[in-house]
Amino acid sequence: MGLHTLTSITLGVPNVSETARYYEEFGLTLTPGKDGQQRVLGTTDGGQQMTLVHAPQRRLLEMTIGADDQDDLNRIERKLDRLDASYAYDGETLRVSDPNSAILVTVQVVARITETLSAQEPTNGPGRPDRANGRARSVERNGRVRPRKLGHVVIGSLDQEASQRFFTEGLGFMVSDRVPGLASFLRCSTDHHNLLIQQAPLNFLHHTAWEVDDVDEVGRGATSMLEGHPERHVWGLGRHHIGSNFFWYLKDPAGNFSEYYSDLDCIVDDQLWKPSVVEGMRGLYNWGPPPSPSFLEPEDLAALMTGNHAPAK
Ligand SMILES: [Fe+2]
Repeated sequence: MGLHTLTSITLGVPNVSETARYYEEFGLTLTPGKDGQQRVLGTTDGGQQMTLVHAPQRRLLEMTIGADDQDDLNRIERKLDRLDASYAYDGETLRVSDPNSAILVTVQVVARITETLSAQEPTNGPGRPDRANGRARSVERNGRVRPRKLGHVVIGSLDQEASQRFFTEGLGFMVSDRVPGLASFLRCSTDHHNLLIQQAPLNFLHHTAWEVDDVDEVGRGATSMLEGHPERHVWGLGRHHIGSNFFWYLKDPAGNFSEYYSDLDCIVDDQLWKPSVVEGMRGLYNWGPPPSPSFLEPEDLAALMTGNHAPAK
C-alpha cells in the first residue's frame, strides 16, 4: 500500500515550557507527561503529534511516518540498502537518520488518521444566494480554533539535493510540484505536501503547518494568537499557488514558524496528478501581502549558525 501519514514530530527548543504554552494557545492539546523535561501536544484528529524536548538551539529532531504494512517497511529497507544508508529495522519499526540533516526518521505500521468531516457551510455568490436570509455561520463561531492534524514541515538543508534524494529514493516520498532552484514539494500521504526541503546555510526548521477547517478558522486562529502579541505575526493571510492552501504564519517563542492552513490540494490518485514546474513568485504565493523578509530568512539564522542562540522575542 505505502506511506500514508506524517504521524508526528519531535522539536528541540531551549524553552520547552514557554513554547508548549504557545502551542496550547495555538489550539493544540497538552498531554500531561510523566517526564517533566518534555511536553506532548495533540490535535483533534491526529492525536499526539508533537513532542517538545530541551535542546540548546531550536531544531527538528525526529519525524515519524506511518505506513500501511510490513511490506512497505521491507521496500524501504531495500531502497536504503541501494543508497548505502545505515538504519535499524526490527520488522516493525525502521529508524534511519538523514545523513545530511541528521533528522531521525522513524517509519512504523500505524492506522491511517480518520478525519471527522467538516461542515460544508453555504456561501452566497452573485446570482447564487445559497445562504438566503441568514448570517454566515462562521461569523457566529466563538470557540477556540483547534487544528485537526499536523500537515507538513519545511526544513532548510545544507545540501537540499542530498536530503531530497534521501526522502524520495530512500523512503519513497513522492514529488507533487517543483520550483526550480528552490525545492520540490514532497508527500507521504494524500496531502499535496508533507515535507519541503530548501537549500539553506544551515540545517534548521523553517515551519510546521497545522490543518484547520476552513479559511475562517485560519483567520480566527491567527487573530486570536495576535491579540496582545503582535510580534508573533510573520505572514498572512494569503493563498499559496502550490498546494492552493490558505495560510497564515506565526512565530513561536523559540523562533519556529507555525502555520494555520486550510483547503490544501489532495492527491488521492497518484496517476491523476501531474507534477508541474512553478516559476517566479507563484512558487511562493498566489495572493496576499508581500512575504516578510523574516519569512524568507528567519532573523535567528545567524545566531543559529554560530550556535549562539537566544530564544526569539
Ligand atoms: Fe507551509
